[in-house]
Amino acid sequence: MSADRLSVYEAIRLRRDVRAEFTGEPVDEDTLWRILDAAHRAPSVGNSQPWDFVVVREPDTLRQFADHVAGKRVEFRDALPPERATTFEPIKIEGIVESGTGVVVGYDHDRGGPQVLGRATVHETGVYSTVLAIQNLWLAATAEGIGVGWVSFYDPEFLAELVGLPPGIRPVAWLCVGPVHEFQTVPDLERYGWRTGRPLSEAVHRETFGATGIATEPSTNIAATETIAP
Ligand SMILES: Cc1cc2nc3c(=O)[nH]c(=O)nc-3n(C[C@H](O)[C@H](O)[C@H](O)COP(=O)(O)O)c2cc1C
Repeated sequence: MSADRLSVYEAIRLRRDVRAEFTGEPVDEDTLWRILDAAHRAPSVGNSQPWDFVVVREPDTLRQFADHVAGKRVEFRDALPPERATTFEPIKIEGIVESGTGVVVGYDHDRGGPQVLGRATVHETGVYSTVLAIQNLWLAATAEGIGVGWVSFYDPEFLAELVGLPPGIRPVAWLCVGPVHEFQTVPDLERYGWRTGRPLSEAVHRETFGATGIATEPSTNIAATETIAP
């Protein structure tokens, strides 16, 4: 394992949704396993671990999924008002073939039996757990210099059939995973003028939701300021 892996704050700061920066080299098996191990260590409601990971490397499967996603991209673009369609057009939304590896993350609502501790009143906690596994994977990959791109332009039924998910397991994500030549410092959707982020002070509320923000934002050491090579 690399001696110069990043601290968790550095990984959080560096992490990007990667589409165009994959080198084309596949991620090696040992690294992939460490990343999947990080995902599998995520917290989960009732310790149910409701996730599964299908690793896809077959070029024909990657191509089939990329073609499906391309169709969904066109559908989305065609439904946009003309001005938004123009902004959207140059934005790349996936690196399915270039990354060389897809990880399909499945969610099994039945995992953990009928009485999942903590899920009785909040039905979605199983899906939340699965998404936490994805975030663990994403940060671990970043620490390894491996890019991850989340693709959600798909019909769940198509993807389930493509990778043979059994009934009851639904896909939550297709993750493009592979080495990158750099991590962008600014999210693509900001760089291309689709949507910018908002400051933390707007997201933080005190005591009640109506009381937004804080008078002055304390300084943070994890703001992205420079280009960092993996
Ligand atoms: C649930 C989810 C689905 C997403 N689906 C896509 C997608 O289909 N295509 C894409 O290019 N990015 C997708 N993204 C990535 C977001 O666009 C990205 O996280 C956001 O623009 C912020 O950029 P950053 O991740 O580089 O900080 C998705 C992210 C999440 C969390």
